[in-house]
Amino acid sequence: MELKINGLTKRYGNKLALKEFSYTFTPGIYGILGANGAGKSTLMNLITDNVKRDEGEILWEGTDILSLGAAFRALVGYMPQEQGMYGDYSARAFLRYMAQVKGLPRKAARGQIEELLELVNLTDAAHRRVGGFSGGMRQRVMLAQALLGDPKVLILDEPTAGLDPKERLRLRHYISNLSQDRIVFLSTHIVSDIESIAKDVLLMKEGTLVTHGTPEALIKKAKGKDLEDVYMFWLGAD
Ligand SMILES: Nc1ncnc2c1ncn2[C@@H]1O[C@H](COP(=O)(O)OP(=O)(O)O)[C@@H](O)[C@H]1O
Ligand SMILES: [Mg+2]
Repeated sequence: MELKINGLTKRYGNKLALKEFSYTFTPGIYGILGANGAGKSTLMNLITDNVKRDEGEILWEGTDILSLGAAFRALVGYMPQEQGMYGDYSARAFLRYMAQVKGLPRKAARGQIEELLELVNLTDAAHRRVGGFSGGMRQRVMLAQALLGDPKVLILDEPTAGLDPKERLRLRHYISNLSQDRIVFLSTHIVSDIESIAKDVLLMKEGTLVTHGTPEALIKKAKGKDLEDVYMFWLGAD
C-alpha cells in the first residue's frame, strides 16, 4: 500500500501554499507538524481532491488519484479542520447520514456504526444531539465518521484543535489504537499529539517540507531530547 506524492504545488494567487512537496507514504501514522499557514490543510485538501493542484502528482499504487477519481475517494476517510454543523442530528443519525453520503450499503453501515460508536466510547450518548456534545465528544463523532467504510487512507486535520488536555489525550488514544493497516495523516501544531504515535514526522513551514524522519532520527539530528526540541530547532523562529 503506497501513496506517493511528487512535486505537489498549490498556489492561491501569488501565495505558494504548498511548494514542490514530495513524499512516499506507507501504512502507519504520519505526524504533519507546522504552525498556522504552513500548508498542512492544503496538503490534505489536495489528497482528498477538494482542491485543484497546480503541479505535481499524487499516485495511489502507481496511478494518479485524478484518474482513479471516485475509486480513490472511496478509500479515503477525512476529518476536516472545520467542524460540520449537524447539531440537530443525534450522533447515530449523523453517522447514518454520513454513511449514506459515502454510499455505503445501508445494512452493513448500521452494524459498522455501532462498532464505531463503541470504538470512540459514544454508545451511551449515541441518541443525544451532537449540538449538545462537548468539543471532545464532537471530535470523536468526527473521527468515527472518518472511519466509515474502513478507509485505507485516513486524513485527520488538527483533530485535537480546541480540546482540553484530557480530551486530547483521549482522542490520541483512539487514534493510536486504530488498525495499522492504513495510511494515517495527522496534522497538528501540538507536538504531544504525535509524540509516541507517529512513525514519521513531517515538519512544514511556509508551504515547504523542511525536514522529516522517525521521531528518534529527528531528535538525534536536532541534538535534542524530545520532539519539542525538534520543533523549536526547525520551526522555533515562527
Ligand atoms: N482558500 C484559500 N485562499 C487563499 N489562500 C489560502 C486558502 N487556503 C489556504 N490559503 C493560504 O495558504 C497557506 C497555507 O494554508 P493552510 O494549508 O491552511 O495551512 P495550515 O493548515 O498549515 O494552517 C496560508 O498562507 C493560507 O493563508
Ligand atoms: Mg490547517
